[in-house]
Amino acid sequence: MYDAGKIVVGLAVLVGVTAFPVWYGLARGTSYQLKLEAPPNGATECVLPVKDGTMRAQHMQLLDAWRTEVVRDGLRNKVTVSGKEWDKSLTKTCLGCHSNKTAFCDRCHNAASVTPSCWNCHVAPEGGQ
Ligand code: HEC
Ligand code: HEC
Ligand code: HEC
Repeated sequence: MYDAGKIVVGLAVLVGVTAFPVWYGLARGTSYQLKLEAPPNGATECVLPVKDGTMRAQHMQLLDAWRTEVVRDGLRNKVTVSGKEWDKSLTKTCLGCHSNKTAFCDRCHNAASVTPSCWNCHVAPEGGQ
């Protein structure tokens, strides 16, 4: 009555199709499946919203804007995250929370094949290289 072979093939195709977003994301290295280290200081919020993907999509533009403001325009006013004030700084702020650059920034960048040149000049915290 049942054709086991066809059922297995059918199920495999179904699973493959439903899981498309997962393996497509993994192949692109941008999936939430990627194991990233949460900030060890117990912070729960980032500079911009995280859950909707804003931070993931816009952190490069944000850093670029900070750099222009600080270096070109001398605007060193602070940004507030969860009621605490932070400098507009790559090392002091981003790596102040994400202190393990290897397990956070690098892991995602390696998967996405991006190599920001920032660390030629900027210093990453000890132990996180
Ligand atoms: C050629 C060296 C060099 C490279 C490469 C470089 N920077 Fe900088 N950056 C500087 C210097 C010098 C300053 C000025 C530091 C200051 O005045 O506090 C600065 C300041 C900044 C600031 C504001 C102050 C701070 O403490 O962070 C940001 C943000 C910044 N850079 C982001 C970046 C990003 C993002 C990259 C990589 C895409 C990058 N920089 C690459 C040299 C560099
Ligand atoms: C006050 C602490 C804090 C600061 C400062 C901070 N972050 Fe975050 N960041 C977080 C938290 C908490 C998360 C969410 C982590 C999680 O869900 O595991 C996060 C998430 C992210 C994500 C999204 C990861 C994903 O899975 O989509 C990126 C990218 C990121 N941060 C980069 C940065 C950069 C770049 C800076 C500096 C401009 C920065 N963060 C500054 C706490 C911080
Ligand atoms: C969830 C994944 C993810 C995490 C975590 C992440 N990044 Fe990125 N980052 C990316 C992707 C993807 C790009 C390339 C985006 C593009 O080219 O449009 C990128 C690009 C960048 C760039 C621009 C590089 C260039 O050469 O233009 C900078 C600067 C940067 N990231 C800084 C950071 C810092 C600092 C951290 C850690 C605090 C971090 N990122 C964490 C995914 C991530």
